[in-house]
Amino acid sequence: MDNFLIEGGKSLRGTMAISGSKNAALPLMAAALLADGPVTITNVPLLNDIFTFNKVIGETGSQVLFDQYKRELAIDPTQMNNHVAPYDLVRKMRASFYMTGALLGAAGDARVSLPGGCAWGPRPVNLHLEGMRALGAKIEMDGGYVIAKAPNGRLPGGAFTMNPSSVGATVNLVLAAVRANGKSVIRNAAMEPDVVNLCDNLNTLGARISGAGTPVLTIDGVDSIKSGTMNNIPDRIETGTFMIAAAMVPGSDVTLTNTLESDLGSFTDTFRKLHVGLDIGDSTIRIRSADRVPPVSIETAIYPGFPTDLQAQWATMMTQAHGKSTVTDHIYPDRFSYVPELVRLGADIERRENTVIVRGRSELRGASVMSTDLRASVSLVMAGLVARDETEVLRIYHLDRGYEKLEDKLNAVGAAIHRVSG
Ligand code: UD1
Repeated sequence: MDNFLIEGGKSLRGTMAISGSKNAALPLMAAALLADGPVTITNVPLLNDIFTFNKVIGETGSQVLFDQYKRELAIDPTQMNNHVAPYDLVRKMRASFYMTGALLGAAGDARVSLPGGCAWGPRPVNLHLEGMRALGAKIEMDGGYVIAKAPNGRLPGGAFTMNPSSVGATVNLVLAAVRANGKSVIRNAAMEPDVVNLCDNLNTLGARISGAGTPVLTIDGVDSIKSGTMNNIPDRIETGTFMIAAAMVPGSDVTLTNTLESDLGSFTDTFRKLHVGLDIGDSTIRIRSADRVPPVSIETAIYPGFPTDLQAQWATMMTQAHGKSTVTDHIYPDRFSYVPELVRLGADIERRENTVIVRGRSELRGASVMSTDLRASVSLVMAGLVARDETEVLRIYHLDRGYEKLEDKLNAVGAAIHRVSG
């Protein structure tokens, strides 16, 4: 298993290109199965989660061709003959559960493994299943698998109110409803850019979805989805991660390209409270670190609120702020595996239920640290960028799931990160 060795104390200066969004690409890949012919998805990131989902799609007999140079993924579902997503793939990546909606919509039946547990606590799929029932699916469990069937091969459609609002369940229900026989309404639907992008792309290929980006999605079922092109959006979490990194590493001046500030929701307003230099262009964001980072407390919320996927990075930056701040996660109250690792690096940070209290500024010193999930891992890398001496981040395979060429991108702007094969 690979590890990172990081020599801290180097400013970040230069340009970094943002990759296509992982979390927006996965729904598009599932949606391609609904089409009558081949679908090409643009701006797909080179990430292990994408490779895993390619395998999941390949299991169905659909053809998958990934032009990694062009970042274009071609999926042809016309030879689909197997409506199963097996446990050994689904357990590697929860988003494989999107196959339930995709296969129900495309073929009228699905046999998809339940995803099981997650490193940061329970992540139920009850809303996915209740929602599909509300759209008319018959759902049974068998040997750890969900067996979903549409009566007479096609769902009738229906209404469902989500509580809490869930990105994954909204995506799954959209996939199931797009080719239904009738109309579906999803209330308290997720408004994340990932959902809006899915709906916009499906509409381009003939779907009839309205209300994307609002809490009420109305989907008039159509007989077919055309083959064609779907365009993926830039990764807003990668954007936010690098914005935070540039703000916290002293002497930094970083310009992010191929990005979209409008997808960051209220994150930018919170970021402005750091008094860093910030210039926002059409597809660029320039960040210059502040001389003194003030403490800024945050609470995660559904979009457009502060994303849970950026709270670990924010807490890490707050170890370098001058004063006390808090970071509260209302979406995933157990997502704090990074806290004891930051303590190992010398941070003054403690967890109380779903809040961490950070007292800055701490002089961090390199040590060996380990992490159990993607966003915690990147936070430890960021801590290593400001720590004295050398920091070793173990188990970086999490990073390869969700950050494309992280060390190459950071090293190109001045960081000193070495990948060591274990
Ligand atoms: C997606 C993102 C993940 C991000 C999360 C929240 C992908 C592949 N992953 O995950 O990076 O951290 O959104 O922005 O896009 N819930 C239920 N029952 C359900 C489903 C969810 O109670 O059936 C709850 C969850 O426990 C959580 C909340 O709803 O408290 C939101 O989770 P959800 O939006 O579903 O997250 P994911 O789609 O799994």
